[in-house]
Amino acid sequence: MSTLLELLRDGRFHSGQALGEALGVSRSAIWKQLQLLEAEWGVVIHKVRGRGYQLASPITLLSSAEIERLAPGNGWVIKVLESVDSTNAEALRSIERGCPAPFLVLAERQTAGRGRRGRKWVSPFAENIYYSLVLRIDGGMRQLEGLSLLVGLAVMHALRETGVQGVGLKWPNDVLVGQKKIAGILLELVGDPADVCHVVLGIGVNVNMQNAEEVDQEWTSVRLESGKVIDRNQFIARLSEGLVAYLECHRLKGFSAIREEWEQNHLWQGRAVSLIAGVNKVEGVVLGIDHQGGLRLSVEGEERVYSGGELSLRLRDGS
Ligand code: ATP
Ligand code: BTN
Repeated sequence: MSTLLELLRDGRFHSGQALGEALGVSRSAIWKQLQLLEAEWGVVIHKVRGRGYQLASPITLLSSAEIERLAPGNGWVIKVLESVDSTNAEALRSIERGCPAPFLVLAERQTAGRGRRGRKWVSPFAENIYYSLVLRIDGGMRQLEGLSLLVGLAVMHALRETGVQGVGLKWPNDVLVGQKKIAGILLELVGDPADVCHVVLGIGVNVNMQNAEEVDQEWTSVRLESGKVIDRNQFIARLSEGLVAYLECHRLKGFSAIREEWEQNHLWQGRAVSLIAGVNKVEGVVLGIDHQGGLRLSVEGEERVYSGGELSLRLRDGS
């Protein structure tokens, strides 16, 4: 499928015959593939009698060679998939098969992209970034402290460098522009966190997406914020370089070295919030985070720290 897209991606017209000849298949096989691209992958294709087929807008596909060229030196094996259930799920399967970490799994689309607590991450073809970096952790719990918060900082910087203004963080794992979600982070862990384990840093960034009716909360994308079509390979290279720098700082100095910067970029610092854990709700004011990335809240005049993957933060009315 991607070979056909490669041929079409220049945004020019291509006849069915020329496409068939290039791929060594019949014109009707090309027609079927184009139907599938439209129906299943949501790619819009213009069909004009006598001229052939043209993509409604040119597409730049992900390329591991291009990413390696733009961000050389980190030595990660990069696996680019056309379509996958979830890059995090694929990363976990690769760990099970014994693939040596670090490695990176990217996909053009996800059919079962996942957020926290089994929520769905909307993942259309060739528009956004679906990124799962696998690391082997053998330094015990300390190396895991605040890891998802650190990833948020790296994503935030990559977005700023790409021209998104007003981007900031929401504890624990959201990257927002104002109230709108532009990126989400999902860490998944296998093994023994106190000894040797693997962690998957799953990152979804809305890059060129302009419509997504299925997303049931406020959202935005780099394109909507900056007005520009973004080269995803470039963004991935930038994000990877930022991540490497933060991971190195975290490895050498621990999360405390990053804590202050995180608080400075927390959009809800000092705000009145509700912290929700299932049916339980705590009301307080955000003081910041602690040295392990836990949320510090002032609750009835007392400081309390909360951590764990099942917590959600909401602003209280009038905050
Ligand atoms: P929290 O519960 O921490 O307040 P949240 O409501 O954003 O955060 P998450 O589990 O972190 O929930 O993220 C999953 C949610 O993100 C989905 O339920 C959906 O509302 C939203 N979502 C899904 N796909 C996208 C997307 N591509 N862009 C922005 N938001 C999305
Ligand atoms: C969230 O905000 O709930 C987290 C969303 C994380 C989405 C990314 S996309 C790449 C990786 N693969 C997944 O299935 N999820 C993460």
